[in-house]
Amino acid sequence: MSRTKPAEPWSHKHLLGVECLSAPEIRFLLETARGFEEVSTRSVKKVPALRGRVVANLFFEDSTRTRSSFTLAASRLSADVLDLAGKGSSISKGETLSDTARNIEAMGVDVIVCRHHLSGAAVQLSRSVRCCVINAGDGQHEHPTQGLLDIYTLARRLGRDDFDLTGLTVGIVGDIAHSRVARSNVYGLLKLGAQVILVGPPTLLPRTFADLGCELSHSLEDVLGRVDALNMLRIQFERMTSQAFPSLREYAAFFGLTTERIQRAKPEIVVMHPGPINRGIEIDAQVADGEHSVILNQVANGLAVRMAVLFLVTTAK
Ligand code: CP
Repeated sequence: MSRTKPAEPWSHKHLLGVECLSAPEIRFLLETARGFEEVSTRSVKKVPALRGRVVANLFFEDSTRTRSSFTLAASRLSADVLDLAGKGSSISKGETLSDTARNIEAMGVDVIVCRHHLSGAAVQLSRSVRCCVINAGDGQHEHPTQGLLDIYTLARRLGRDDFDLTGLTVGIVGDIAHSRVARSNVYGLLKLGAQVILVGPPTLLPRTFADLGCELSHSLEDVLGRVDALNMLRIQFERMTSQAFPSLREYAAFFGLTTERIQRAKPEIVVMHPGPINRGIEIDAQVADGEHSVILNQVANGLAVRMAVLFLVTTAK
């Protein structure tokens, strides 16, 4: 990680992934988010930063957190918001993603926020339109705003106000193979100086992640005492083509974060989950709602991070 370079002004018209961001750019974005955090505490939760701009949500996969967070973030910046889902749109009549996006853009849209089941959909979209594109999750590729809000939450919880994560060890547990959240976290955490341990059964933990600089483990028990934070992932059955483990019961026994396991972890361990949670599988309800959990802080911080992203891409030089 470079510590000598000053924070650079933002120059990206699109946010397609964390992979293409430098460490100073990530820190600049997170510092911008910190500036926006206060807006959500006001009685009138609005600033005029994007007044007159239009943000279109194009969500071709289900979403609770990301979609509502982008809608609220755009509203808090005083932008107009257009919400379009795959179901109920003309995509179901055979219209391509590019044609849909170009038609939306023709109505004067400044930013398209896109979630799609195909990896690379956001990149393709950015080549089809002139407006800004933000990737809200593309297949198994990246979910950059989730990765950034996870890192923001971790840094704020641990008092790393300069967003330098040197010396921290973060475990990401579960279905790494299908997880765009894991990829975005890995890129960001490593760039900011953290050590990353990926934990999961061999069928869900591609060895190629070791080439990025991650440690790989098949035992949550083995890493419990070493990690400062655990990010627990959902099993993404909808993306699996074959059975990756014998049973959910066995998966939970080996990789579930239980109250017993938390007692063997570091006393100040931070527990994260991008949601949606499957209680009793990857995380026990008592742990999800317990003192170590920052799961709802992640959701709250997502607003500030997405306000920063919307603001930066629309004002990029
Ligand atoms: N974490 C996340 O992307 O949640 P949603 O699928 O609800 O947006």
